[in-house]
Amino acid sequence: MQNKQSILITGGAGFIGSHVVRRFVNNFPNIMIYNLDKLTYAGNLENLKDIEHAANYKFIKGDITDTTFINKIFAEYKFDAVIHLAAESHVDRSITSPMDFVMTNIVGTVNLLNAAKTLWSNNPIDDKNTNSVRRIFYHISTDEVYGTLGSTGHFSEQTPYDPHSPYSASKAGSDHLVRAYYDTYKMPVVISNCSNNYGSHHFPEKLIPLAINNIKNNKPVPVYGAGLNVRDWLWVNDHASAIETIFTKGVIGETYNIGGNNEWKNIDLIHLLCEIMDTKLNREKGESAKLITFVKDRAGHDLRYAIDATKLKNELGWSPSITFEEGLALTVDWYLHNEEWLKHVTSGEYLKYYQGQYEQR
Ligand code: NAD
Ligand code: DAU
Repeated sequence: MQNKQSILITGGAGFIGSHVVRRFVNNFPNIMIYNLDKLTYAGNLENLKDIEHAANYKFIKGDITDTTFINKIFAEYKFDAVIHLAAESHVDRSITSPMDFVMTNIVGTVNLLNAAKTLWSNNPIDDKNTNSVRRIFYHISTDEVYGTLGSTGHFSEQTPYDPHSPYSASKAGSDHLVRAYYDTYKMPVVISNCSNNYGSHHFPEKLIPLAINNIKNNKPVPVYGAGLNVRDWLWVNDHASAIETIFTKGVIGETYNIGGNNEWKNIDLIHLLCEIMDTKLNREKGESAKLITFVKDRAGHDLRYAIDATKLKNELGWSPSITFEEGLALTVDWYLHNEEWLKHVTSGEYLKYYQGQYEQR
């Protein structure tokens, strides 16, 4: 097992990370995939039940802010590549607890950069290297680092950073540090900045899964402000496929924007979801929309995000595989057929699933 090449994926028990881990475990059977996750409220090993016994998969419980622990696992497993997704990811939580975001998103990222730098500089690759996994530190980031758009325009890779929330500021900080390690130490890094994801296994504090869950349970669906903010939605499996494309073909030192060219005003999106839910739950047309409740706006709420993903399409040949209507229907079906998952996640019950099983090394 030690001779196999290996990829460390951080945050693999979370929403996007679990889709990435599953994809890599299935698509790279000869490569060892290590999933490092602290299992915060957002991390859930139930997300990976289907691959947990795969021969090329291993879970490691741990915290990326713990320098000693991070150095120890890099020395032990000698990862060939890193895909870094672990983060505090919810904007509303960053407004109430900014320090958690600074610690995980900035300090945690630097810990990983330092550990990879030490490991890789002590083990240089020779010219005859024929390994299939190249050395790469792939940092997964967000379009929120670019700030907000008015009613026109798109974020390109050249858009200056202008983050507004503690979350996006902490992600911007981590992006800058990753680039600094490329410039200063020649670390082989790549960054991608993606728009809003949706799909299965999405924690129901984010808009789409929260709305599905509340509509199903006849609870109010909170819409911030007047619901006029715009987000650019991408199916999570398409984000995972973009990550595989960039991991295998992306040019070292480059940044790639990822997006679905799929902008929705929040209120229009919620109305669409209500219509889909009326049909799926055999409710009278208009019944679910009665649950829409306008609430106090988010502080510093960015008006509009929209990604220009031309570079990724033209240079690496990636584009989304399905339409929003298809993706949303699949997502609603997944939530309606996975009541247990939802119940565990909303009750905190899932924490018991791994209690005692994965003590920190
Ligand atoms: P998530 O909150 O669902 O999952 C985050 C994961 O990181 C969880 O499993 C959690 O346990 C783990 N984690 C948190 N702190 C940790 C720590 N200190 N040490 C180890 N593990 C820790 O997040 P997500 O929505 O899946 O986002 C994953 C990544 O993608 C993040 O970096 C986020 O910024 C980025 N991103 C997300 C979106 C989106 O729409 N959700 C869009 C673009 C980019
Ligand atoms: O753009 C990428 C980002 O998308 C990621 O980097 C973040 O990790 C991810 O959480 C997401 O951030 P948003 O803040 O855009 O997602 P959220 O689902 O929290 O909110 C989407 C929009 O819906 C936003 O305009 C706020 C609004 N909203 C959200 C919630 C939770 C509501 O109107 N009501 C709600 O209850």
